[in-house]
Amino acid sequence: MEGVGPTADGLEAQAVAADAPRLVEQGDPAQLGCFGVHARHGSVPSAMTIVDLRSDTVTKPTAAMRAAMASAEVGDDVYGEDPTVRRLEEQVAGLLGKERGLFVPSGTMGNQLAILVHCKKGDEVVVGEGSHSVWYESGGGAALAGVQFAIAGQGGLFDEAALLAAIKPSDYYYPRTSLVALEDTHNRAGGRVWPRGQVERVLAAARARGLATHLDGARLWNACVASERTPAERAAGFDSVTVCLSKGLGAPVGSVLCGSADFVKAAHRYRKMLGAGMRQVGVLAAAGLHALEHHRARLADDHAHARALAEQLVAGGLRVDLATVETNIVQIDLDVDADPVLARARAAGVLVGASGPRRLRAVTHLDVDAAAVRLGAERLLSAVAG
Ligand SMILES: Cc1ncc(COP(=O)(O)O)c(C=O)c1O
Repeated sequence: MEGVGPTADGLEAQAVAADAPRLVEQGDPAQLGCFGVHARHGSVPSAMTIVDLRSDTVTKPTAAMRAAMASAEVGDDVYGEDPTVRRLEEQVAGLLGKERGLFVPSGTMGNQLAILVHCKKGDEVVVGEGSHSVWYESGGGAALAGVQFAIAGQGGLFDEAALLAAIKPSDYYYPRTSLVALEDTHNRAGGRVWPRGQVERVLAAARARGLATHLDGARLWNACVASERTPAERAAGFDSVTVCLSKGLGAPVGSVLCGSADFVKAAHRYRKMLGAGMRQVGVLAAAGLHALEHHRARLADDHAHARALAEQLVAGGLRVDLATVETNIVQIDLDVDADPVLARARAAGVLVGASGPRRLRAVTHLDVDAAAVRLGAERLLSAVAG
C-alpha cells in the first residue's frame, strides 16, 4: 500500500531533522522539527527530533504536492473562472454522490455555511456530545446563524431514540428544531466511526420529523478507509456534507461543502458574505486534488500506527480504551492533571494535546511513520512517569 515505509513526506521530515541544529543556531525555533513538527510554543531541546502527535493538521505539503500547486491552472474564482477549483468541486461532489461542491477555506466555514443555509435565527440544531461546532467554532452557530444547539445522547454518537428525545415539540414557545448534524469520524469521541446502520436509522427519523441533515465529515476519508465503504456510501442520505483536505490528507488548507445545486447556490452567497470569495485559488485546490489522489488509501497506515501507539501505551501501564481506537486518534486517560504531563512530554521531544483536564490526545498522520510513533510512545510513557 502506498505510504508504507518512508514516504516522500517521511524523507522530507528527516531532511528537516538533519537541519535542526542549524536552525536552532540560527534562532529559528519555528522551523525546528522532525516528523512534521512546528515547534511553535515554548522552547524545545536543540538537536532533538520532535515527534508531533498533536493533530493530523500539522503536516507539511510534500514536494509532489508543492509541484502540483506550482503548476496549477488558475483564474479568478469570484468570476467562477478557476478551472482547478471547478475540477476539485466536481470531483469531490462526484465522490460523495452529491450534485455540487463548494471550495471553502476550512471545515469550520463548511459547517457554518451549512447551518446558515439549513436554519433560521432561533432554530435549534441537534448534535452529538462533543460536537466540533459546539466546541471549536468560536460560537459561530450562535453568532452567525443565531441558532442554539441541543445535545443528543452521550459520547458523540447517538441513536434515533436520542435524536427524537432531543427534538423539541412543535409549539410557538419552543425553538424550532430544524437540523441534525453528525460528525464522522467523531473527533472528541477519539476518531470513532459511525456504524452505517445507525446513521441510516438516525437519518430516517430526522426525515420523518422534517429535519435537514448535515454531515461534518472533516475526517470522512478516515471513516471510509476504516469501514471499507466509499465516500458516496457514507455520505448517502445527508442533505449536505463538509469534507476536509487539510487533516489526514495533508493539504495545507481547504474543505469542500457538498449538497444539491440549490443548497450550494445558497452556501455560495453566504461564503461571499463572510469574505471568503477567493481569487486565483486553484493553487490551493491543486493541493486538494493531489491529496485526494495520493493520500487517501494510505490513511490505513495512520490507523495501524494509532493502534500500535495505543497498544504500546497500554503495555506501558497507561489507560487507553482500545475499543475506541478505530482510526487515527488515541485518547489517553490520566490519573493526574494533563498540563504538567504535556510540559514534560514537550521537554522529552513528543508533542500531544489535552482533550480534557486529565485526558491526552495523540493523532497519527502523514508525517509520522511507524518508527517515529514508537519513539513518541516511549517518550510519552517517560513523561507520564515523571
Ligand atoms: C470534526 C471536525 N470538524 C470540523 C473541523 C474544522 O476544520 P478547520 O480546522 O479546517 O476549520 C475539525 C478540525 O479539526 C474537526 O475535527
